[in-house]
Amino acid sequence: MAQKLVILGAGGHGRALIELLRDLGEPEIAGLVDAAPGREAVLGVPVLGDESVLPGLRAAGVRLACIALGDAGLRLAAAARLAALGFGFPALVHPSVVRARSAEVGEGTVVLPRAVLGAAARIGRFCIVNTGAILEHDVVVEEGAHCAPGCVLPGGVRVGPRALIGAGAACRPQVSIGAGAVVGVGAAVTGDVPPGAVVGGVPARPLPAE
Ligand SMILES: CC(C)(COP(=O)(O)OP(=O)(O)OC[C@H]1O[C@@H](n2cnc3c(N)ncnc32)[C@H](O)[C@@H]1OP(=O)(O)O)[C@@H](O)C(=O)NCCC(=O)NCCS
Repeated sequence: MAQKLVILGAGGHGRALIELLRDLGEPEIAGLVDAAPGREAVLGVPVLGDESVLPGLRAAGVRLACIALGDAGLRLAAAARLAALGFGFPALVHPSVVRARSAEVGEGTVVLPRAVLGAAARIGRFCIVNTGAILEHDVVVEEGAHCAPGCVLPGGVRVGPRALIGAGAACRPQVSIGAGAVVGVGAAVTGDVPPGAVVGGVPARPLPAE
């Protein structure tokens, strides 16, 4: 029998994952679950309700889940709740991804179309490697981090847990991005970024706080 998977999160990332799963052809999508369900369906996939429906889905034989929440903290917290209910989290890698055989992808991580994972790249659990991101050889991305569309991480870059590398940002080889740091859209990162910092620009500098 085909394995079934529930998607938690019916927003933009949820729509991206519906398309990814359709391109993969499996597992079968059981439906969407969302904190604010509201709609009947998204891209033809039924919205089943909020998280209160999850125990029933498990009892009905749905064993797999993916977490379609862009915020890293919310994504990791939701993963812990669903793991406690017995769900498993496959790594979902779009068929168009160029993936070195030695590249590792952790559970619950999603890799969207046309991303590149180089030799010995290691992507941790519950990460997002977004459309067209290039993660070169020996890049390490830790739990919950997000590499946004079109970012370029050359050899040996380390991305700490829950960090966000913004769309189109690029880094010098070997730099480290600290836990929870944010690299703004289009930045050029020339040195290490401390944990929790928000940087942007070319070259990247700390951005003014709001
Ligand atoms: C860096 C970022 C988080 C800042 O967002 P924010 O806290 O809402 O900041 P604001 O938009 O209020 O901007 C604060 C200042 O930083 C500047 N700034 C914002 N983003 C910048 C960027 N990427 N590069 C350079 N400067 C930037 C603003 O112009 C503003 O400067 P000012 O005070 O002189 O006018 C956001 O702009 C960003 O780049 N996020 C990444 C988004 C992304 O790629 N998501 C992935 C989706 S798939």
